Order: sequence, then C-alpha cells, then structure tokens
Amino acid sequence: MVRHPRVDAIADEARAAIGRATSSTQLEELRVRYLGRQGTLTMLLRSLGSLPAAERPRVGAAANEVKRELEALLELRLGETREAERRLERARQRIDLTLPGRRPLPGGVHPLTRVQDEIVSIFVGLGFSVAEGPEIEDDYHNFEALNIPRDHPARDMQDTFYLSEDTLLRTQTSPVQIRTMQAQRPPVRIIVPGRVYRRDADITHSPMFHQVEGLAVDRSISMGDLKGTLELFAREMFGGRAKIRFRPSFFPFTEPSAEVDVLCFLCGGGGCRVCKQSGWLEILGSGMVHPQVLRNVGYDPEEVTGWAFGMGVERVAMLKYGIDDIRLFFENDLRFLRQFV
Ligand code: PHE
Repeated sequence: MVRHPRVDAIADEARAAIGRATSSTQLEELRVRYLGRQGTLTMLLRSLGSLPAAERPRVGAAANEVKRELEALLELRLGETREAERRLERARQRIDLTLPGRRPLPGGVHPLTRVQDEIVSIFVGLGFSVAEGPEIEDDYHNFEALNIPRDHPARDMQDTFYLSEDTLLRTQTSPVQIRTMQAQRPPVRIIVPGRVYRRDADITHSPMFHQVEGLAVDRSISMGDLKGTLELFAREMFGGRAKIRFRPSFFPFTEPSAEVDVLCFLCGGGGCRVCKQSGWLEILGSGMVHPQVLRNVGYDPEEVTGWAFGMGVERVAMLKYGIDDIRLFFENDLRFLRQFV
C-alpha cells in the first residue's frame, strides 16, 4: 500500500468522521466534503500537476487508494443507516388497530323540535290535520277576531311586539284558528305548531317561544271532549301516571276557559323555584270556542260548537326532560344539545 502524509491526514480525518456519522444525511455530507467536486481528496488529486514530478506518482497512488477505500466505507455505512432509518420509519407509521376510532359527529334534532313533533304526532294520531299561519300577523287575526278589541284589558296578558299600528309578531298561535275557519267549513280538527313572540324574559319565559294550538269544531262538541282529549294527551306525553288538573281561567276567545297544569317535575308537587312554590306547572290555556269567535268567521254557534287549546312547547319540553332554565334551549351549547341526539 502506497502512503503519503498528506493523504494519510485526510484519510484519518475522513474515517473518523464517517465513524461518527449517525444518519444517511450526515454520510452524504461527508461524501461531498471529501469526494465531491470540491472535496478535499478530489482537490488533492486535481492538484497533482503542481507537485514535483518525483512525488506525483506516490501521492496519486495513495490518494486513489484512499478514494476507493472511502467510497467503499461510505457505501457500507450508508447501507446500514438507510436500513435502520427505514425500520424506524416503519415503526413510526405502524397502524395501531387497538386505538379507538374517530366518532363521526351526527347532527341531532333540537329538543324543542323533537317535543313539538311529538305533540303534533299525538294529535295527528287522533285525526287532527296540521295547519300553519304567518308569524307576522295583523291586529285583526291576532286580537280583534279573537274577541280582544283594542283597549281590551286582556291585551295586557300578552305584551306585544308591534311592527306598525296594525302589524305585529303574533303573540299566540290562536290567529291560525281564525285563518283556518275563514278558509273552510266545519268540521275542523287542526293542530298548529309555531313560533310566537312576547316581551318577556326570565328562567321560564323567552321573547320567542313555541306553541301548539289545537282546535276542534263540529256538531255537539263538549267540554268533556276537551278534557278527555287532553288527559289522553298527557298520558301519551308524560307517561301513564302523569297528573294534570284543570283550573278555571279567562280568555276572551273561549267561554268557559280553563288552564291546564301538570304536576311539577322538579319537586313532585312540594313547591320549588321552577313551579314558583305552587307544585304545578301551567302548560296550556283552553276552553270552549266563544260564540262570538264562531260568528266572526261565519260559523253558526247554534249549529256547531268547539274547543281550543294553546300549549307552550318549551314548558312541555322542560317538564319532560327535567330542564329548569328555558334559556338552555336557545343558547346552542353543544354540551346541552348532544344529550338529545
Ligand atoms: N292563546 C292562548 C295563550 O297564548 C292560549 C289559548 C289557546 C287559550 C286556545 C284558549 C284557547 O295564552
């Protein structure tokens, strides 16, 4: 083997560096540093011409030998490190089949929609048809035709959002009674879900809320029919042991009138903040359709009678699911809504 001190110095340095290298990237860098076009060894070989003629063959032979040695050494170490790197990469990418999968997030029906649909379907099952009406109403349909003239004190029961002198956001679904009876002859059996608006907000009141109106008009319809229907509804909605009570009340468009309460879900009748210590929660207003209302739509109160009710969907949903703050329905907090998916 031919040797030369300058070549030896480069060779020692290169061997040590290759020995220390831990990645294929580092080895590639070393290849460039010693054997590349500007590499130390390459430059040496290229400068042979400037050496004294006597030294040239020795240096040339030694450098070429080291060059081959380094090429072989790099090849070997590159093979090893590449293999190790591939093993690591495979381990990193291995799929762990025992990991829990990502759950798709299914959308859900809002609890109010769900309860509203359930109320409607109970009455559809009893032969009622679904009817709807506008949320922007006129004074006539929301009040006047329902026997609530301007300046009638009953208007205070429903603090109204007026849009103009004559138009307003409906305060109740009862105007749909009028619209339906104006459009068809008796018998009428309708169930009317919809949004209504009142200036009112606390833990049991929201300025926009939902009602479902019921109306039955036919020959010889009685208060007994109303009571039987609502008792059946309560058992379907709240279970066979549900308790309801009828309480005499007043609405200008029904006579006689009754409010219906359900035993408070939270305290079971003992009294709490949700039922305002009464033990009962009002869920609907009802009564026999006032003869004047029948006359207003061209029906003959001597020929037909009827009953009507208006039910608060939020109230029913709060009762059914034990929710004690109406605002939860409108905050769209997914932690709340997901419980109903
Ligand atoms: N519209 C009444 C209200 O919103 C409820 C009601 C409807 C009462 C039908 C009697 C008959 O308070």
